[in-house]
Amino acid sequence: MKKLAIVTGGAGFIGSHLVDRLLIEGWSVEVIDDLSTGSKANVNPKAKLHMLDIRNPNAADLIRKKKPQVVFHLAAQASVSVSVKDPIRDAETNLHATLALLEAASETKVKRFVFAGTGGALSSEHVRVPTDEEHAAEPASPYAIAKVASEYYGAFYRLAKKLPFISLRLANVYGPRQNPHGEAGVIAIFTKRMLKGEPVKINGSGQQTRDYIYVEDIIEAFMASIRHKDAIGPFHIGTGRETSVNDLFKKLADLTGYNRKPGKGPADIGAPTRSALKSKKAYKELGWSALTPLDEGLWLTVDWFKRMQTVQTQNTFPKSGKRK
Ligand SMILES: NC(=O)c1ccc[n+]([C@@H]2O[C@H](COP(=O)([O-])OP(=O)(O)OC[C@H]3O[C@@H](n4cnc5c(N)ncnc54)[C@H](O)[C@@H]3O)[C@@H](O)[C@H]2O)c1
Repeated sequence: MKKLAIVTGGAGFIGSHLVDRLLIEGWSVEVIDDLSTGSKANVNPKAKLHMLDIRNPNAADLIRKKKPQVVFHLAAQASVSVSVKDPIRDAETNLHATLALLEAASETKVKRFVFAGTGGALSSEHVRVPTDEEHAAEPASPYAIAKVASEYYGAFYRLAKKLPFISLRLANVYGPRQNPHGEAGVIAIFTKRMLKGEPVKINGSGQQTRDYIYVEDIIEAFMASIRHKDAIGPFHIGTGRETSVNDLFKKLADLTGYNRKPGKGPADIGAPTRSALKSKKAYKELGWSALTPLDEGLWLTVDWFKRMQTVQTQNTFPKSGKRK
């Protein structure tokens, strides 16, 4: 019988790529997703989709009933600004519901519980860049606080209830299927607007840097986390390289043939000026490092958005971001 993986948030950007990969590797996959930011079109038809809010006790009950080998927990209220406006709503999804899933997973003796943590949102002006796991997390938003608190709960379940919990703290992920209407996906937002010839705004000076990592590299890290069953983490999953928003603008303008000047937007309040993650620990313990150069990842992403623009008019949806 095939091994079963449950992927929460499997209709979202990263989760849907993970589902595809698990299916390729012979897993049976079931997705829990309320489609609040994800889409049914993202979900591989070979996976079973349960349209469920993780705050609904039925989500944890599904884990009890299905007894999967692995739970990948990616469903989240993923907007920092929503978390600032409504910390209670954020905690209901990102903390309480996570706790309910941890409890169910520990009861059913799940072999691996993989949590999508955040690296970027833990950065501050005080940390050395690129940042390793030795630095104390300084979560500055309710979103980041809930992510770190979930890691502490995960550690409790690992120690007290023998649940093999691992957290991967992701840098700024980009690639095909990223929602261009979200707030975090600057590459998706710029690409979509540039391809349509629409105005593009750079917030602040544009000199602020982030660690942009291609989604396939993230999926490799998720897969490594189930191969290395004793690894504990948390692990920083990034490229270690910083790219400024101004540089991103130039690279994407070249790839899309955009020749308008960028507009100016207000600087993001409270956001650190620099951020990048050092992944030495992931290399040592998971045998993982990021392999996709930024220029290649951007090419693949722009290519996907171009194809999506074309096929949307024909009412179909490209499933993969792979170069043909
Ligand atoms: N994209 C990044 O750069 C990044 C960086 C660090 C961490 N992460 C984390 O990775 C995970 C996936 O992020 P993503 O970029 O794919 O975002 P996404 O919004 O594309 O995916 C999240 C998925 O969760 C689903 N979801 C949200 N609330 C839910 C709920 N209450 N019940 C059930 N499903 C719900 C959404 O419908 C969506 O399909 C999240 O946990 C996010 O916090 C992402």
